[in-house]
Formats: sequence, C-alpha cells, structure tokens
Amino acid sequence: MSDAAPDLVVVGARGQVGRLIAASAPDALLLDRDEVDITDASAVERALSHLHPGSTVINCAAHTAVDAAETDVAAAEAINVTGPANLARATATTGARLVHVSTDYVFDGTPPSGERRPLEPSDLAPDAEPPSVYGRTKLAGERAARAADPRTTIVRTAWVYTGAAGGTDFVATMRRLEAQRDTVSVVDDQVGSPTFAADLAQALLAVATRPSTAGATLHATNAGACSWFELARAVFAGIGADPERVLPTTTADFPRPAPRPAWSVLSSRSWEDAGLTPLRAWRSALTAALAADGVPQGG
Ligand SMILES: NC(=O)c1ccc[n+]([C@@H]2O[C@H](COP(=O)([O-])OP(=O)(O)OC[C@H]3O[C@@H](n4cnc5c(N)ncnc54)[C@H](OP(=O)(O)O)[C@@H]3O)[C@@H](O)[C@H]2O)c1
Repeated sequence: MSDAAPDLVVVGARGQVGRLIAASAPDALLLDRDEVDITDASAVERALSHLHPGSTVINCAAHTAVDAAETDVAAAEAINVTGPANLARATATTGARLVHVSTDYVFDGTPPSGERRPLEPSDLAPDAEPPSVYGRTKLAGERAARAADPRTTIVRTAWVYTGAAGGTDFVATMRRLEAQRDTVSVVDDQVGSPTFAADLAQALLAVATRPSTAGATLHATNAGACSWFELARAVFAGIGADPERVLPTTTADFPRPAPRPAWSVLSSRSWEDAGLTPLRAWRSALTAALAADGVPQGG
C-alpha cells in the first residue's frame, strides 16, 4: 500500500457497486476483504491511518446474501454492524468522512400511515424492526457508524443490478432464465425502486465530493417504482423476448428464507434537497444496462 494519503478510499472495491466506483476513480485506494477485513478493528485502523480531513471513505462492503444471513447471523452482524463501526472510528480519528451504503430493507414494508408513497429517511421509526437479519444488521450498522462518527453520510439504495451476463443480480438472473425456461413466475406484491449499479456508483462519487452531506441520511435509487414482476417483464421486453412469458406470483406462493418488505420505494427528496442530481428513471437505466452488455435493443 502506498504511503501517500489518498483523498478517496473505496472499501468493498471488488463488489458489484465498488467495482464501478473504482472504474471511475482511478486514483482511489481500493480495498476489499484481501486487503482489509473490516470486522478487524486493528486492521482497519492500520489501513486507514493515512487518511486526513478531506479524504472520503465509501463503504460498499457488506454481507449482502439476504437469505443466507438468516442463518449466518454472526457473520452478518460482524460485517454489517462491526465493520462500519470500525470504519467510522477510523474516519472520526483521522478527520476523514465515511459514506456508508445502506438499504431499503431497513424498512419493514408497511407504508407509513397506510399510505403507499415513497419513503423519506424520516419515515423510519426509531423503534423500527426490519423483518430480515440483513435489514436488521444493516440498520444497526447505520446506527453504529453514526455513533462512532456523527459526520457519517448514510446512503440507502435498493434493488441494485448490473444485469451483466453471468451475473447473479435479478436482471442478470432474468436474462439467464429467459434462455432456459418457457415461462418464469415472479412476485408481483413486492414493490421497490430498481437501481443500476453504474448510476449508483456515480451518485456515491457525487456524495463523496459534497462535504455538506456529512451527517445526512440520503435515499438514492433510480426514479420510479415497480414490482419484481414488472421489472422481470421489462427485462424480457428489453432483450427482445415476449414479456407475457413472465407470470405474476405472490410472496405467499414463493416463500424465501428472509422476509422482504412489500413496499420499500425510496423518495428522492432528501437527495434533491442536498443539491444532488436525481438519478434517471428506472426504465431508462435498465435500457442503458442492457445496451451496455451488448443486448440488441427493441428486437
Ligand atoms: N445488491 C443490492 O441489491 C443492494 C440493495 C440495497 C443496498 N445494497 C447495499 O449496497 C452496498 C454494496 O452492495 P453490492 O451489491 O456491491 O455488494 P456485493 O457485490 O456483495 O459486494 C460486497 C463486497 O464486500 C466485500 N466484503 C464482505 N465482507 C467483507 C469484510 N469483512 N471485509 C472487507 N470486505 C468485505 C465482499 O467481498 P467477498 O466477495 O469476499 O465477500 C464484496 O467484495 C452494500 O452496503 C449493500 O448492503 C445492495
């Protein structure tokens, strides 16, 4: 590792989002599990001791296997709670700033006051109880990071994909299933905001250059909302397949180990109020993602 004090450090730099930030930030110091295990406080302290006021650490490292976390609780807690707390202690000590990525799954899926409207950061009740281990540990991680360094910026996002062939995200999975099956059943009763990882990467870089967002909790997703079923149909249409081959199903008929929120659409108001440019509409972003991976559009 270089002795030069970096202005930008990306943690989790080999993950889905971290890789795309790294691609746009050639001078950043890139760290992933091989360089520093964020659950190890002394390793984090050593790796980040060069930071200075004005440096920013973007934390994309997380235990993101939502279903596996239900039984792998200790690992989820270590990576999603202890990890960000360790990073925030290092930024507090050095005067650098932590930008910590979190998730819509901190919400329990019940629309506030029964009203289906996009969720503001203030809609999360102080006694919120996320239904999954992933959501619970991510919320505890937000709080642990804030407690260790109140200047931490928290950016919640949702339903992140690259859609690249061979990937394991939802869009990539739909592309694979389209080639393998006549029909695919997808849940139509969970609604959220799909987010293209490349757009999120640019959004996080924008936050990194805005010291005025220190201490804020922001929501950053592509604009608009849909169900997983609607997203799957849009993927099929985008790759020239018949969207009618995607059939709606329900969460009750397609149970998974981790409960998912039924409604976790995030509002962009906090983002815009911070003077940041809103992310484009999810359908445009999906079109760009499919085009970026060489899928012929419209046919
Ligand atoms: N993916 C989504 O749909 C989604 C939705 C909402 C929010 N988010 C949030 O967005 C952020 C980025 O997600 P992503 O999709 O890019 O995740 P990802 O692809 O799973 O990448 C996470 C990265 O963190 C690394 N990591 C795990 N444990 C570590 C440790 N102890 N020390 C250092 N690095 C460690 C992983 O390395 P290994 O591969 O070696 O484990 C991996 O490179 C996360 O905070 C996630 O919670 C994601």
